[in-house]
Amino acid sequence: MKPNNDPKGMSGRLTNYGDEGFSLFLRKAFIKGMGYTDDALSRPVIGIANTYSGYNACHGNVDALVESVKRGVMLAGGLPIDFPTISLHESFSHPTSMYLRNLMALDTEEMIRAQPMDAVVLISGCDKTVPAQLMAAASAGIPSIQLVTGPMLSGSHRGTRVGACTDCRRYWAAYRGQEIDDQEIVEVNDKLVPTVGTCSVMGTASTMACLAEAMGMMLPGSATAPAVYADRRRIAEHTGAEAVRIAVENIAPASIMTESALENALRVLLALGGSTNALIHLTAIAGRLGIDIDLSAFDRMSQETPVLVNLKPSGEHYMEHLHHAGGLAALLHEIRSLLHLDAMTINGKTLGENLEASTRIISQQVVRPRDNPIYAQGGIAVLEGNLAPRGAIIKQSAASPELMKHAGRAVVFSSVEDLAMRIDDPELDVKADDVLVLQNIGPKGAPGMPEAGYIPIPKKLAAQGVKDMVRISDGRMSGTAAGTIVLHVSPEAAVHGPLALVHTGDIIQLDVGARSLKLLVEEDELARRRQALKPVEAPPQTGGYRRLFLEQILQAEEGCDFRYCRPESTRKIPRRS
Ligand code: FES
Repeated sequence: MKPNNDPKGMSGRLTNYGDEGFSLFLRKAFIKGMGYTDDALSRPVIGIANTYSGYNACHGNVDALVESVKRGVMLAGGLPIDFPTISLHESFSHPTSMYLRNLMALDTEEMIRAQPMDAVVLISGCDKTVPAQLMAAASAGIPSIQLVTGPMLSGSHRGTRVGACTDCRRYWAAYRGQEIDDQEIVEVNDKLVPTVGTCSVMGTASTMACLAEAMGMMLPGSATAPAVYADRRRIAEHTGAEAVRIAVENIAPASIMTESALENALRVLLALGGSTNALIHLTAIAGRLGIDIDLSAFDRMSQETPVLVNLKPSGEHYMEHLHHAGGLAALLHEIRSLLHLDAMTINGKTLGENLEASTRIISQQVVRPRDNPIYAQGGIAVLEGNLAPRGAIIKQSAASPELMKHAGRAVVFSSVEDLAMRIDDPELDVKADDVLVLQNIGPKGAPGMPEAGYIPIPKKLAAQGVKDMVRISDGRMSGTAAGTIVLHVSPEAAVHGPLALVHTGDIIQLDVGARSLKLLVEEDELARRRQALKPVEAPPQTGGYRRLFLEQILQAEEGCDFRYCRPESTRKIPRRS
C-alpha cells in the first residue's frame, strides 16, 4: 500500500476556480441535482469507464455490467459513478481501429485523471479497447481494475459449430473459391455472431482478456466467462467490490504491471497461440511503464513455451469451451513452472496463491498437457534478416508446415488499393509458390497498420484449391486469421524500410526454423532502388488527430504508441530465458 495524502473522493481533482472550498461546494451542488446525499458523496468514488456504443456489439452487455459493478461497489461501501469514453469496434472503425487505439488511450487517461475518482473499473472487450484502457491506466497511475465484456457464444450453421471471426474468414474464402454459393454466404452471415460479446476464438480480444488476467489486472477467473452468462455479471459485482479495496489501499497499476507480471503475460501469449496483435499491445503497455520488450529474448522464450490451448485459429475449440475447462487457470497450472508465481495481482494475492485457490479441471481436449502440445513451440516466432532489420513476426502455430521454409518469387502490391484492384485479376501473373508482398500498410503507411496482412489468395488460385501462400507485409492481421503470414515487417515501407525496395520477380527466402527473412537481391541493386524512392512525405500541417498520429506514431516493435507517451525506457523484458 502506498501512502497517498491527495484529497479523496469528491474532493479529488477539483476544477480550478482559485478557491478550493468554492470548487467543492459547486461540484456537490451540481451532482446533487441527480439526487445524491452527502452520505453518498462522502464515500470512496469508483469511476466506471462505460464503453457502451450502439456501434459495438462486442460491448453490447456493458450496461448490464455497469449495473453489476455498481452493486459490488455499493456493497463494499463505495460510490460508483460511470462515465463514457470512446468505444471502438473492429468493423466500425475507419480506416482501422489501430489508428484510433491511441486516441482511446488518451481519452481514457485524461478522463480518469480529470474527474474525481479513487479507483476506476475499466470495462471493455473488443480488440483495441482493453489495450487502450491498460495503456491509460499505466500512464494515469490511478488504482485501476480491468473488466472484460466476455466472449460471445458460438453459433451453428447447417449443423456445424461456427464463431467469429475465424469462421467468417473461412466461409468468405470458401465463397471466393466458389465452394459455397450466394445463398449459403447470406445464410451463414446470420449465424456467425449469435450473441453480444467479443469474438469467440483466440483472437486479439480473447488474447488480451487472458493477458490482462495473467498480468494481474483482472480478477482471477474473469477472462473467459461468456458475455451472456450469469458468471459474467457475478465477476462484474466482485470487480466493483475489489475496486473499493484498491481505492482504499491505493494500489497503483505500476505495482501490478511489473516486469514479472508482463513476462507472465508474454509467456501466456505464447502458450495460448494468441494473437500477434497482442505483442504490439503489450509492448505499448510496457512502454508506458518504461519497460522495453526485447524481441530476441521473446523469441528464445517462444522456443521453450509450447502452445497448449486448443482454440481456433491455432486449434479447434471456442472460448466457451475454455471457460468450461476451467478458464485461464487451466493453462496457468500447466505452465506453472514457467511463470513468476510471486507476481502480485489486483486481488491482493500473488498469482501463485490465486492458482492454489483455483479448482483444477483437467480437460485435455481444450488445454493440452505439456507433453502433448498443439504446437511444440510458442505461437509466435520472431524473424530477422535484410528484409526486416528491426524484426518481423509470424504466427507459426497457425502457418502451413510445408511453407515454413520456402523461397519464392515476389508478387508485389504497393498499397491496399493496388491489392484490391489487381488481386482477383485473371491476368495477374501469380503462381501458388510465389510470395505475395503488400507494402505501405504499416503504422504510418495506411495509416494505422490495418489488418490487411491476411492477403487473400488470388481468386484464380483459390478456385484451383490453393489454401495458403507465403504472404509478407508491414501490416497486421486479425488474431482470428491463419496462414503462413509474415507481419509487422519493420521498418515499414512508408519510412523506406527494405520492404519498400522489393520488386515483383525478386526472390524472397523465408526460413522460420532459422528465424530468417531475406530478400535475395544484391546490395548495390538495393542501394540503387533506395536512391530512386520518393522522399518520405512530411505529416500534414493541419488535421487534428491525423497530424498528431503521423508525427508521433512509433513502429510495431515499439508498440505503435505515440512517442511522447513513453517515458525513457530503463528496463528490458524478458529478463531470463
Ligand atoms: Fe470485437 Fe472481434 S470484433 S472482439
